[in-house]
Amino acid sequence: MNSSSDAIPASLRRDIERAGELLRAGGVVAMPTETVYGLAANALNPQAAARIFEIKGRPKFDPLIVHATDREQVETLVSDFPAPARRLADALWPGPLTLVLPRREIVPDIVTSGLPTVAVRVPNHAIARAMIRAAGVPLAAPSANQFGAVSPTTAQHVRDELGSAVDMVIDGGPCATGVESTIIEWDEMGQPLLLRPGGLPVEMIEQILGPVRRATDAQKRPQAPGMLPRHYAPRTPMRLLESLDALPNELPAPAGLLVLNPPLPQIAARFAVVETLSITGDLHEAAANLFAAMRRLDARNLSSLWAVRVPEQGLGVAINDRLRRAAEPE
Ligand code: TXA
Ligand code: MG
Repeated sequence: MNSSSDAIPASLRRDIERAGELLRAGGVVAMPTETVYGLAANALNPQAAARIFEIKGRPKFDPLIVHATDREQVETLVSDFPAPARRLADALWPGPLTLVLPRREIVPDIVTSGLPTVAVRVPNHAIARAMIRAAGVPLAAPSANQFGAVSPTTAQHVRDELGSAVDMVIDGGPCATGVESTIIEWDEMGQPLLLRPGGLPVEMIEQILGPVRRATDAQKRPQAPGMLPRHYAPRTPMRLLESLDALPNELPAPAGLLVLNPPLPQIAARFAVVETLSITGDLHEAAANLFAAMRRLDARNLSSLWAVRVPEQGLGVAINDRLRRAAEPE
């Protein structure tokens, strides 16, 4: 496990200690993780968790993910840890994987939206882990953005959007993964269900568990906003295309383009701005760049944004999922 705090510079270690004090006192602190920045509060303190909802303007029926340092701490939160879940945890934690498991009474209703389950994950980020240790409690943390907006992948994104509403922002640089964690639940029959594609490719989970069913939006319980058809959305209207061939002849100008690889010059010339997610077409690099590129495009006051689907494999599944929810319906 890369939980060593040796890699953390001394000035940051002092910030983390201060963050731990704030969190213990019921504060809300923005924390870097390997996926996106989270808005963290003591997961066992309902008033502290309530502040997260206020700051985000998030509806209370959307449950939070609880972050722990290791499986032992997770076991203080869940009443059952079935064998398949344990196999995933042993192989893939710390990492961008969230497991939905039966909760213990200790987890407040506001964190789980009153559900009998709690979503738990062990982040693979030295600062996040040091913050949980400094707080001495597991931390509830949704993405640190306004409800429905694009998730933050730098501390500056958090400051721009939430600024003084949070007690402290810990700057851990840009997030390496760039899309939120993959969420797995088990149905009544004990079959695994993919609730949200994310930073851990579902193929890696299937290597351990065998085939994993993809939940349809209608199947998802609760109807969490992160699963709503429109979410992670820029303010500029965005359309999602199967390929550049599907571009209409007229584009509301100025227009912006979000693509995996550099487009041909005659295509690029039709846009005021082109954001290329990875020059080599690497889906890991593309995921890490996705939300920052969407934010840059959104900041340019364009009339229209056009995004092109990426290959539906590995991290491409999560990228396409976020693009689909960010785009206007067909
Ligand atoms: O990568 C991540 O998961 C980031 C970082 C900060 O860890 N967090 C994140 O949290 O994406 P958030 O709040 O944006 O997404 C949490 C989602 C909820 O919207 C819901 O879909 C699902 O997790 N969830 C939480 N608890 C659940 C439960 N008990 N049953 C089913 N889904 C649940
Ligand atoms: Mg979110």
